[in-house]
Amino acid sequence: MKNIVRHDFHLDRQRRAQHKGHKGLVIWFTGLSGSGKSTLANALEQRLHQEGIHTYTLDGDNIRMGLNGDLGFAPEDRTENIRRIGHVADLMCDAGLVVLSAFVSPYRQDRNAIKDIVGPNDFVEVFVDTPLEVCEARDVKGLYAKAREGLIKDFTGVNAPYEAPLAADLVLDTSIVDIDTATQQLSALVAQHIKND
Ligand code: ADX
Repeated sequence: MKNIVRHDFHLDRQRRAQHKGHKGLVIWFTGLSGSGKSTLANALEQRLHQEGIHTYTLDGDNIRMGLNGDLGFAPEDRTENIRRIGHVADLMCDAGLVVLSAFVSPYRQDRNAIKDIVGPNDFVEVFVDTPLEVCEARDVKGLYAKAREGLIKDFTGVNAPYEAPLAADLVLDTSIVDIDTATQQLSALVAQHIKND
């Protein structure tokens, strides 16, 4: 980037983490629409909040109404969606927050790019591996039915791909695991990553 020089501020990531009592972290939920990403993120956020941890949730539908309102679901739009969210999550993590992000994020390369932006020590990937049949049977938003009727093109799992993580930090199938157990596992994973040195 031409003529852009990063300014080094005196308060760095470590000093902010000490001030907050814990490090920042990005918890990246990925999975099909209806897999349970937002439900898990909500339950986890509530629990972390009760434990005195500073959190913020970035959620697919909300971000697409605002910051990324100009983007659709073609592959290049999804890549740009995830790229912007990755940078926002990185800034929030840098500010000392535990960021819960819940996006389909179907492309492996896009998710790996976020890990590079945030840094591997401050990033955990949670694969919400609920089978397509279950997500489709839930069809909370009625979108699967529309996609099957051909009314939505590029719908993940129906007529657009989902690339499963190869080395997720945690895999949760919400058709098998109950929400309390899942939240417990997530909370243990977070605790491992946010302890100050
Ligand atoms: S992502 O692929 O770019 O990561 P994102 O998580 O922001 O997707 O948005 C997914 C949500 O948008 C879904 O939960 C669903 O409600 C809605 N949606 C609308 N059209 C599509 C589509 N073609 N594919 C997937 N989700 C869609």
